[in-house]
Amino acid sequence: MRIDRHKKRILAFIAALAALPAVGLAAGGEAHVEKANNDIHNQASLQRGAKNFVNYCLACHSARYVRYNRVAADIGLTEQQMVENLLWSGESPHSTMTNGLLADDGKQWFGVAPPDLSLIARSKGTDYVYTFLKSFYADPAKGTGVNNLSLPGTAMPHVLWELQGTQEAVWEGHTDAQGNVQKHFKEFTLASPGKLTPEEYDAFVRDTVNFLEYIGEPVQARRQALGYWVIAFLVFFTLLAYALKKEYWKDVK
Ligand code: HEC
Repeated sequence: MRIDRHKKRILAFIAALAALPAVGLAAGGEAHVEKANNDIHNQASLQRGAKNFVNYCLACHSARYVRYNRVAADIGLTEQQMVENLLWSGESPHSTMTNGLLADDGKQWFGVAPPDLSLIARSKGTDYVYTFLKSFYADPAKGTGVNNLSLPGTAMPHVLWELQGTQEAVWEGHTDAQGNVQKHFKEFTLASPGKLTPEEYDAFVRDTVNFLEYIGEPVQARRQALGYWVIAFLVFFTLLAYALKKEYWKDVK
């Protein structure tokens, strides 16, 4: 009797687990998320990303868990390159990537304080951040003149508009059973082009996201490289142990 009840519970649990991906898919169908396809082992991309971050994001967002000299060493910049590309407003190489913006001012100016971006790629995912930076569209009703499909009503202005140009969102409508019109996002159109082609803009955003993923876990690249050595060592050690075992036991019959 008891066992039966238990069994039923377990079966229900398994059934619920099996249904989970379906729920995820249903929710994912609405959300518009593009793949970042970035590669944290690509140092040239990380170098471009660091420069993009300093030039276009640092004015509002800090990355307070990383230091300039650590970044430079990890992404392969010489002292000279670091000073020219990252420290152009005279910061110390040992300082963290912070700005002079106080949270209170940020809140007052934008309505929402710009968050620290050290961990954003880990907390929200690289695909999300990539899509977010590609999803600003013109919205005259907003104070900043733009809205964002990934974060509707966002307080962040489209700081990359000069590069991307101005996008407009195209919506599709259908009337549901209650007679309400439901709006669905269909696509973006480029109303006026920016300095970069759409492919170049994607690459710009990919590099920036790559850098954000790197600062989320600066040891990641080294940890993975170390992993190969650890595995190689384990394989080598196993072979050695096996050879030794054979040697020791060969006379024991
Ligand atoms: C002019 C100031 C400003 C600049 C420059 C700026 N941002 Fe923002 N950003 C904001 C504000 C304000 C928010 C908070 C938005 C909100 O929560 O509505 C924000 C939020 C974000 C978020 C969080 C989105 C979320 O879902 O919570 C990300 C990611 C982000 N910014 C990335 C960037 C990147 C990358 C750059 C550089 C290319 C950048 N921002 C440049 C003001 C700025």
